[in-house]
Amino acid sequence: MRLDAASAPLVAAAPAAAPSRRRKSPHPWLVPGVVAGALAPLVSIALRAARGELGADPIAQALNELGLVALILLTASLTCTPAKSLFGWTWPIRLRRILGLLAAFYATLHVLTYAVLDQGLDLSAIVDDVVKRKFILAGAATFVMLVPLALTSTNAAVRRLGFARWKRLHRLAYLAGVVGALHFIWRVKKDLREPAVYAVVIGALLLARLATQIPARLGRGRVAD
Ligand code: HEM
Repeated sequence: MRLDAASAPLVAAAPAAAPSRRRKSPHPWLVPGVVAGALAPLVSIALRAARGELGADPIAQALNELGLVALILLTASLTCTPAKSLFGWTWPIRLRRILGLLAAFYATLHVLTYAVLDQGLDLSAIVDDVVKRKFILAGAATFVMLVPLALTSTNAAVRRLGFARWKRLHRLAYLAGVVGALHFIWRVKKDLREPAVYAVVIGALLLARLATQIPARLGRGRVAD
């Protein structure tokens, strides 16, 4: 099976080679550095929560910060493939899977903060919120998309699904980005500048992805003709 490392947004990597034959990474610090950097906001939230420094509404503050970090990491995971296609950089591809998983991790903490701390696990209130507030519905839709992506992020899942199906599934990451940006836009009532930045960046990444994919497909079609 051939794995096109540039083609899937959330998860990269060919199936693991035998350890003895695995080539040494040119930047061994890259993944641990990104993981440490990505976990720093969580440590900061936990420390400020413990010291009572999360402001007048600590639950809302933690909720917003966790949601924002989830969206930033999701956006970062979407930059990896266009960075390779447009600039020929290969190192971002090695970060795609971990960035996607970290985005799903923060999204899960965000949802748990909402469901447990904000709503007190009141299921009928949560369902009511999802039905009545379109921004909550958009958040829930984003989360529902992130779950299968995270669950199929292993090499074993790529083998089980087959690369073509797995690749199609992982295109969902772009839709998750778009709907996640919409969640942010609909949540903000007045100053739309910050969510607009995410919407524009995610839109541009989607366009870049399409712009590099369509000529490649046409080229393949011509060869087949
Ligand atoms: C079931 C799923 C979700 C629910 C119920 C939910 C709910 C919420 C709530 C209640 C807020 C705070 C609103 C306020 O303070 O007025 C919020 C903010 C936010 N959420 Fe979600 N969310 C969900 C999923 C997601 C996901 C998957 C992402 C990102 C990938 C995300 C990103 C954000 C962002 C960026 C904000 C605003 C942060 C800010 O204002 O700085 N949410 N969400």
